[in-house]
Amino acid sequence: MLSIRNFSVIILLLAFSAASQAATPRTNYLLYCSGCHLVNGEGNHPNVPTLHGELGRMMTVPAMRDYLVQVPGAAQAPIDDEELTAVINWVLEQWNSDTLPENFNALTLDEVSAARKEILADPLRYRIENWKDYPH
Ligand code: HEC
Repeated sequence: MLSIRNFSVIILLLAFSAASQAATPRTNYLLYCSGCHLVNGEGNHPNVPTLHGELGRMMTVPAMRDYLVQVPGAAQAPIDDEELTAVINWVLEQWNSDTLPENFNALTLDEVSAARKEILADPLRYRIENWKDYPH
């Protein structure tokens, strides 16, 4: 039978392994994105754009795939490239499934690592030049 002491060691080990596991994309979203884009991803019009709907269509345009990574809120989040890749793909699947192209290629780690080296100084301008204005 387990002694109380062994039992507490098991609990400690379980707690430790849970803590050392990478956070899920949803948790990282809540920690690092929801402060501005809100828990439901709808943003805060007109200052913070919604993450619903339009991002799916951007996935066919290489410059816009990069854009999703290079906006300051994403590029500068204190998570590694792998976690950022997972968060953005999660946002795409969660809130943009209706607009994702057929045979949609999720963002890859290589793509995100390369794009993230450049942070957009003027995201709105880049968006207008490579896509279109924010919906008003
Ligand atoms: C400090 C506030 C803030 C945080 C935190 C933040 N964002 Fe943003 N995000 C913005 C703003 C503001 C914009 C509009 C572009 C700009 O001015 O940076 C934006 C734009 C975006 C866009 C482009 C949307 C579009 O339609 O043009 C994406 C994608 C995005 N953010 C994803 C994220 C992700 C993913 C995270 C978390 C890892 C995050 N953001 C964290 C404020 C934030």
